[in-house]
Amino acid sequence: MSIAILYEYAETDELGIKLTAEEMGIKLSYIPFRKVAVSIGNDGYNFKSKGRDFRELIEDTNAVLNRTQSKNRRLYGSSILEALGKYVINSLSIESLCFSKFRTLAEFWKMGVKIPKTVYVPCDSHDQSTAGVKLHNEEDIADLIQSDLGNENVVVKPDGGTHGNAVRLARERKDLVSFLDCTEPSIINPVGFVAQEFVEKWFYDLRIIVSKERGKPPYCYPVALARAGFKDFRTNTYLGNMVFGVNLPLDARDVAVKCGKAVGKENEAWLLALDAMFNIGADKFVDDEYIKSELEKLVSPFEGVREVKRDIGLKNHDFATWNKHLETAYEKYKSAEAYESVRKIIEESVERGKNNILFHEANSCPEFWEQTRLIAGINVAIPLLKCAQSVSGWSVYQKIRER
Ligand SMILES: Nc1ncnc2c1ncn2[C@@H]1O[C@H](COP(=O)(O)OP(=O)(O)OP(=O)(O)O)[C@@H](O)[C@H]1O
Ligand SMILES: [Mg+2]
Repeated sequence: MSIAILYEYAETDELGIKLTAEEMGIKLSYIPFRKVAVSIGNDGYNFKSKGRDFRELIEDTNAVLNRTQSKNRRLYGSSILEALGKYVINSLSIESLCFSKFRTLAEFWKMGVKIPKTVYVPCDSHDQSTAGVKLHNEEDIADLIQSDLGNENVVVKPDGGTHGNAVRLARERKDLVSFLDCTEPSIINPVGFVAQEFVEKWFYDLRIIVSKERGKPPYCYPVALARAGFKDFRTNTYLGNMVFGVNLPLDARDVAVKCGKAVGKENEAWLLALDAMFNIGADKFVDDEYIKSELEKLVSPFEGVREVKRDIGLKNHDFATWNKHLETAYEKYKSAEAYESVRKIIEESVERGKNNILFHEANSCPEFWEQTRLIAGINVAIPLLKCAQSVSGWSVYQKIRER
């Protein structure tokens, strides 16, 4: 029985998973999730592209890593492969929770994990009355949000969004009303609004990896990826922020495990990347201007990393060589004095704020090959493959017999 990876295009992370599987001596098959027809009927199923039938491969697979890229495609991927009797990492139940920020937060909250206060209003800003008259609901929605979160800073975000897109900070009511007004229901914002208290998180937030193999307890990795910058209140890496590897206090790791359990539930194997912020409040023990000047010193070594990333030709043609270049560039960035000085500030801040850690999201298909691996030292491909190995011989997931 082998392990398979499901994806539409081989991006850096998927190439990294393949390379890691080779290094671990694991046979990894590829199931495409683009330009294939998946059919189910009373005589069985088919899974084929125009040139190839994948049924035999699927029959020979027990565990599948779902690396399809959008949240919606992942829902389809997990539900189809689970229906075909495969153990999917991550499962449909996990994908379904991770799809929605609010659903995830509700699970954290039920487990007693501290979260940013969050309001969900299941009403769109524009509507139609039964008589066909256009309704504007944004003032009412703003009233409801403000009655819970107060009149100052409020973060508005699409419930199913990613990469920080359309995550906005409303500093006063008129911003709030205007953000609500310009949002329409969409696939990432299916019904209504999610609004959140603005967390005084200083200049960084954290990405923390937790995973569970079958037969073992969930495990939180000891180093987190801190994303840092002053340009925008959104410090996620997609927006080009700097990254640092920081040690996590034990208490924070314990809470992360709780979050993993809250989302992983009864699933035997899973891997999640959690987003966390600290409510630092006034505990800014180093002057912002000093940190900004240190971050400025890192711009040039970080540009070295970006230069390697731009060499898509080499990446596609010779991933192993491109990867060596990437590793060298990150080593250079990490060896800069300013890297260690900012890293230490974040680490101290994390230690001082450890009782005010707030978890706000679980990502089911995290990017990892570049930053999480080379900065936090976690090659997520290894736990992913180990999770798959841990369930691949599991008899509950026997292949579906041909009918
Ligand atoms: N309530 C908040 N208070 C302060 N900052 C916030 C808050 N919510 C989000 N942010 C900032 O905005 C960034 C993006 O928010 P969030 O993670 O919710 O969006 P996303 O679309 O899921 O982004 P990603 O896919 O990168 O995780 C966070 O990394 C954080 O820095
Ligand atoms: Mg996020």
